[in-house]
Parts: sequence; C-alpha cells; structure tokens
Amino acid sequence: MTDLSTSYLGLQLTNPIIVGSSGLTDSVEKIIHLEAMGAGAIVLKSLFEEEIIMQMEETIYTMTNRHFVFPETLDYMETIDKEDILRSYLELISESKKSVGIPIIASINCVSSQKWTYFAKEIEKAGADALELNLFFLPSDNQRGEKEILEATFEIISKVKGSIRIPVTLKISAYQSNLIGYVEHIDQAGVEGIVLFNRSWLPDIDINHFLVSSGFVLSSPSDLGNTLRWVSLVSGRVNCDIAASTGVHDGIGLIKLLLAGANACQIVSTLYINDLSQIRKMTDELSKWMITHKFKSIGEFRGRLSQANSGNPAAWERVQFMKNFTNFV
Ligand SMILES: Cc1cc2nc3c(=O)[nH]c(=O)nc-3n(C[C@H](O)[C@H](O)[C@H](O)COP(=O)(O)O)c2cc1C
Repeated sequence: MTDLSTSYLGLQLTNPIIVGSSGLTDSVEKIIHLEAMGAGAIVLKSLFEEEIIMQMEETIYTMTNRHFVFPETLDYMETIDKEDILRSYLELISESKKSVGIPIIASINCVSSQKWTYFAKEIEKAGADALELNLFFLPSDNQRGEKEILEATFEIISKVKGSIRIPVTLKISAYQSNLIGYVEHIDQAGVEGIVLFNRSWLPDIDINHFLVSSGFVLSSPSDLGNTLRWVSLVSGRVNCDIAASTGVHDGIGLIKLLLAGANACQIVSTLYINDLSQIRKMTDELSKWMITHKFKSIGEFRGRLSQANSGNPAAWERVQFMKNFTNFV
C-alpha cells in the first residue's frame, strides 16, 4: 500500500492536494463535495478587508442614494457591515469544521494592520485549523523599498502570531525582491509555512474600446517552472513547511513539486479547467508513480531534487538560454 499522507503546518493530510483559496471554497456545500472528491485540505476563499469596505460603501449609497453621509451614520454602518461579513465568514469556518474531517485553513487579506489581529482571533475562535495570510506587495511603489516591505511583513506576522495559537502560513507573491532573503526572514519570524506563490489579478487592454480590462484569470501548466524553481531553491533553507501554488495542473506537476521539496500543493485553475475529478486523477497518478519507483511514503522522496540535494545546484539558478538553444525551432 502506498501512503500518500503528508504533514503541512503540523496538520496531517491524507494526501498532498490542497484546494487553494478561490470561488471553489466559499461555501459549506462546495467544501463537503471537495472532501468527497478526495481533497487533502481546503483553504477557504479569502476574507478581504477591502471588499468589506466596498460593500459598506455600496450599502450606504443604496440607503441614502447619495455619496455624502453624516459621519455618525458611517461609524454605525462600519460596525454593522464589517461584523456582518465577518460573521458569515466565521459561520463558514464553523459549519465546515462540523461537516468535514479534512483540515480547514482560513485566509485573510487586510489593509489596516490592526485588522489582521482582530480577524485572526475571531477565525481561531471559529475553529479554523490554520490561517493563511494572503500578502501581495506589487513592487511598483518606488517609495516603498525592500526594507519597508520586510518591516510591514514582520509587523503583520508578529501581531498575528502574538494573538493566536493555530499555525500561520504566509502566501506571497513571486514578484518579491530578494525572494530568498525575504523567505528566510519570515521563516525566522516563526511562521509555520509559506505558500509559493499567489497569482495576481492580471490587467489587459481592450484595443477596440481603449480600456484597461481584465486579463486571463487562470494559470497554465507552463507556469509550473517558476514555482518549481523557487520551491527547490527555498526547500532546505527554511524550517517552515512549503506549499506550492501556481501552475500545478496534473499528477506529474504534483510529483515534480514534491521532489523539489514541497510538503503539499495547492490547486485551483486545473479544477476550473477540468473538474473536481482532477483531484483523484492526480492522487492516482502519484500513487502509480510511487509504486513504479517503489516508494511507500512521500517522505522517502520529498526534496530529493531540491537545489541542495539535486547534485546540480546550478541548474536551478540558470536563467539564460545560452548557446544550447541557438538552433531551437
Ligand atoms: C477565480 C480565482 C479566485 C481566487 N481567489 C483567491 C483568494 O480569494 N485568495 C487567495 O489567496 N488566492 C485566490 N486565488 C489564487 C489561487 O488561490 C491560487 O494561488 C492561484 O490561482 C494559483 O494557483 P493555480 O495555478 O492552481 O490556479 C484565486 C484564484 C482564482 C483563479
């Protein structure tokens, strides 16, 4: 018998497939279905502070039909609406925990630093097994350098870690400068895991209407290479666990990332493109591959091809095509 179990954030997963934060994980019914389809764990759709604020503004506009409101009304609305959206998120956590046996990881994205702590505490009380902090700093602000981003990240981690006991994992962007240094710092700050990487909303241009529009939302298997490179480089340099995210579309991608050193893989796009049966196809593929190579557990091969263990560390850092590709057709 092959044992597909893995440990991530101190949680025991029956297999290394985690369904990533998305519209696939925003209701109890969907979560029950995902467990039945073989998911090893779930990351809930993120709770976005910005979304709460936007909804609040819309409600105010609908109620008053004007953009100006008295400040006291705003204060009142702020309490009511923020609490409402947060309450339904907390209900999603507690109801999911009652309905399934697999780990439920909550996810938050906050703008104001004090909200990270407040939301985190409430999420822990609602019964989440772990908390994923959804961080994304696009390095487009030349006034906000690496130092400021690192300080902001530290502040968030220390506030959140100081207020809850459940494991915390940080989902970061591939655009982060000095990525290895950044990851080593956040590891030292005491997080239990990192997720490499979040995928951002991408802009596009509507050439007929001269407008900025929404780009293609889903990843493709060709996005795997970047995730693979960084999982391999980071693995062995940090104490915390690694979840790979972006470009994992099939069982082969999953196996590659485990070999590179991931503890688990988060998948989203492949489930939108195919369907939820893809989860079982991927675990079956992993199982068959393990039988072929006589591995009884994931621990026997995980990280075997990380940069530190691969025997060819330079290959993971190579970026230029050089002369080997001169005749590429
Ligand atoms: C429709 C959609 C909604 C998403 N919503 C969230 C979200 O709320 N929070 C978050 O951290 N990531 C969100 N993501 C990003 C995914 O969790 C994941 O990191 C990303 O899609 C890369 O994985 P993939 O290549 O398997 O799609 C979303 C992705 C998609 C496609």
